[in-house]
Amino acid sequence: MDHISIKELLSKKPIGTTATVKGWVRNFRSNRFIALSDGSTIKTLQAVVNFENTPEEVLKKITVGACIKVTGDVVSSQGAGQDLEIQATDVAILGESNPEEYPLQPKKHSMEFLREKAHLRPRTNTFGAVLRIRHSLSFAIHQYFHERGFYNMHTPIITGSDAEGAGEMFNVSALDKKNIPLTEDGEVDFSEDFFGKETNLTVSGQLEAELGALALGKVYTFGPTFRAENSNTTRHLAEFWMIEPEVAFADLDDNMDLAEDFLRKVIKFALDNCADDIEFLSKRLEDEEKTKPQAERSEMSLKDRLEFVADNNFRRVSYTEAVEILRNSKPNKKKKFQYLIDEWGVDLQSEHEKFLVKHFGCPVILYDYPATIKAFYMRLNDDEKTVRAMDILFPGIGEIVGGSQREERHDVLLQKMEEFGIDPKELWWYLDTRKFGTCVHSGFGLGFERLVLFVTGMTNIRDVIPFPRTPGNADF
Ligand code: 4AD
Ligand code: MG
Repeated sequence: MDHISIKELLSKKPIGTTATVKGWVRNFRSNRFIALSDGSTIKTLQAVVNFENTPEEVLKKITVGACIKVTGDVVSSQGAGQDLEIQATDVAILGESNPEEYPLQPKKHSMEFLREKAHLRPRTNTFGAVLRIRHSLSFAIHQYFHERGFYNMHTPIITGSDAEGAGEMFNVSALDKKNIPLTEDGEVDFSEDFFGKETNLTVSGQLEAELGALALGKVYTFGPTFRAENSNTTRHLAEFWMIEPEVAFADLDDNMDLAEDFLRKVIKFALDNCADDIEFLSKRLEDEEKTKPQAERSEMSLKDRLEFVADNNFRRVSYTEAVEILRNSKPNKKKKFQYLIDEWGVDLQSEHEKFLVKHFGCPVILYDYPATIKAFYMRLNDDEKTVRAMDILFPGIGEIVGGSQREERHDVLLQKMEEFGIDPKELWWYLDTRKFGTCVHSGFGLGFERLVLFVTGMTNIRDVIPFPRTPGNADF
């Protein structure tokens, strides 16, 4: 390569040498000062153009959004906020950008506007920072598990079972939509379809990860998952990435220990490795908070919030205790909750989760939920009313992790499947692990975008994935 990245240049500071950089023009002032970004860092590089020596038609084409190559002398800079700059001896236009048409101007754009320009928004400071942090978190997650003896397992994206999320799955079919084969009963005849049976996009890799854990001991998945639920919220995507560790010989306490340590360590990694980006996003959030009424503003800055979570224990609370707290809470008594908590056994809504996090002032792990509101595969407690489930609730996010100790007893599992109306024949392979060398095991799922949301301080999940898929939107 004949050029150096801005990140490398700013860290090596080769004052007195000649360097070449390539990037996109963010701003061009006084026909002289270019703010150049190449995405390697949030920082831009100032390139100073000598307009006497630069041809007029080159100068004309140094416009916002244009891609250019600058060669020149690296010198220390007088300007505030930058150590060095480049005194251009040669500027070449690599890709022109018509300033009349280029949608990103050097000013603040709304998140909604930028969502419509998702093909260009990575060139903004905010999305550049989000994407770099997203990468760092992904790397930290793989590193965390690798260093602790977990094996990464690739579970299928197309699945033949719909046991976990019945009614919320995207169908995968190669049938001719204009000529769908029907059975004698008038149902779609999936035996004629590509796989010879009905298939869907996966909602979770868990069931397959369990097979892996009962062979390799400790595994994790990190893959895309798909949910066709019609949830138009700031925390739901139809396509999102999930991390699912699964561990043999681990009970629910081990599972909570792992999840807590894992979250704290990857957040610490981001703090240590993405300082510039977090600082930028901290300021962004501060500005955003200023537009809110005083009472709704958060007391901690983004950086403080991340440090707080990385350094402090999570609070573990049983579902039963949580329901007591909620039942006696002010918003419940004053009927401020949309869903009032009147009796044990109700499912908790996001408003309740947020209340609990505020109440304890730290991340909360809720455990031992009523069996009726959780999945069939969670281990039944001796009280036969609750299961060994756990959800982790985060400030501003609500549920970030859902997990459980798994039901390892064949007879209990079979009975649960019958109660839940799940055909044991469909999951014969899952049941087999309970017949052949079953053991205590546990795991959880972390929604990757919810983690990125927390670490970046962004407010909408659509702004922490490059190309969000939500009801009515699959552009780009
Ligand atoms: O709680 P969930 O549904 O759990 C499972 O899928 C289990 N199989 C996990 C396991 O035990 N291996 O989903 C796990 C996490 C949630 O806590 C949430 O963070 C995230 O996935 N999530 C979503 N994120 C974005 N958009 C959605 N529509 C999401 N649904 C769940
Ligand atoms: Mg859940």
